[in-house]
Amino acid sequence: MKRRSFCRLFICTSCLFMVGGLSAQEARRNTKFVPKALWKDTDGEHINAHGGGVLFHEGTYYWYGERRGDRTSSGGISVYSSKDLYNWKNEGAVLSPVDNPDSDITWGCVMERPKAIYNAQTRQFVLWFHLELKGQGYAAARAAVATSDTPTGPFKFIESFRPNGNMSRDMGLFVDDDGAAYHIYSSDENYALRIARLREDYLGPTTEDTLLFRNHREAPALFKHRGKYYLITSGCTGWDPNEASLHVADQLFGPWELIGDPMRGGEAKKTFGGQSTFVLPVQGKKDAFIFMADEWRPKKLQDSRYIWLPIQMHADGINIEWIDEWSLDYFN
Ligand code: DGJ
Repeated sequence: MKRRSFCRLFICTSCLFMVGGLSAQEARRNTKFVPKALWKDTDGEHINAHGGGVLFHEGTYYWYGERRGDRTSSGGISVYSSKDLYNWKNEGAVLSPVDNPDSDITWGCVMERPKAIYNAQTRQFVLWFHLELKGQGYAAARAAVATSDTPTGPFKFIESFRPNGNMSRDMGLFVDDDGAAYHIYSSDENYALRIARLREDYLGPTTEDTLLFRNHREAPALFKHRGKYYLITSGCTGWDPNEASLHVADQLFGPWELIGDPMRGGEAKKTFGGQSTFVLPVQGKKDAFIFMADEWRPKKLQDSRYIWLPIQMHADGINIEWIDEWSLDYFN
């Protein structure tokens, strides 16, 4: 009896906890991006969505990323939702490793760089990620696919494979204006970057699969602006940061021209301490793209930080400049 009244009092006090007339949750609403700071979700927890990408669907942004725990193996894939890009609600795990030792995603596997897209024909959300099988380090080098009827899942694991027989590690997805989707992936021990057009259901690659270039690059982030395709990649130095590079093309299957390092200011030569993961088109704003990168903390991967910076579009390319803190007003 006594215990019950204590609970009631506790809930009541937490509801009434106000800061200057605001509830605790309102008081911690974010209104800016601070690269490398601790980014808290609406529950006050550090966002756990690394190596990820963002899908915009029916007025809401969904941020899919690696859910990291204390173990080197994967904790699965998480999703957060937001209307404004500053404040993210934890929607939970969309896909987790399973207890079945015969499954490709049995506990001990590694799930990295998840990206989700929406297929308007099948009305399915399709999630691709880089999968390493339990106990094999990074040798399996496979792509994996899962689907869901809703953006927040749970997603059903479909299968994993090497696209057209090619090794597949770091990856991104891109949907072009005509609805055709593509898988961009590091192959051949990361020496080759490849692109494959997906089947109409987005659940697997077609044989339209070609080499983009052999520069030993990974962490691909591809986007389109005014008919041109831009591809940001990193070098291959494990979790350590290195110099980014930008390639530009008029057609997805190339030729791709190497422009150089688009980063400026601060630790530009090391991508500001981060590694590319995605380029996010901001809805409702013209020429507005956000470069998303991870500052990895390999000793405790769940503590890795996020570097989001605005992309400056020029006639002859793009630049990404270090900014300590900024807001979407930057694009006005
Ligand atoms: C670099 C990749 O970009 C990351 O996703 C991860 O696979 C690390 N290598 C592992 O060392």
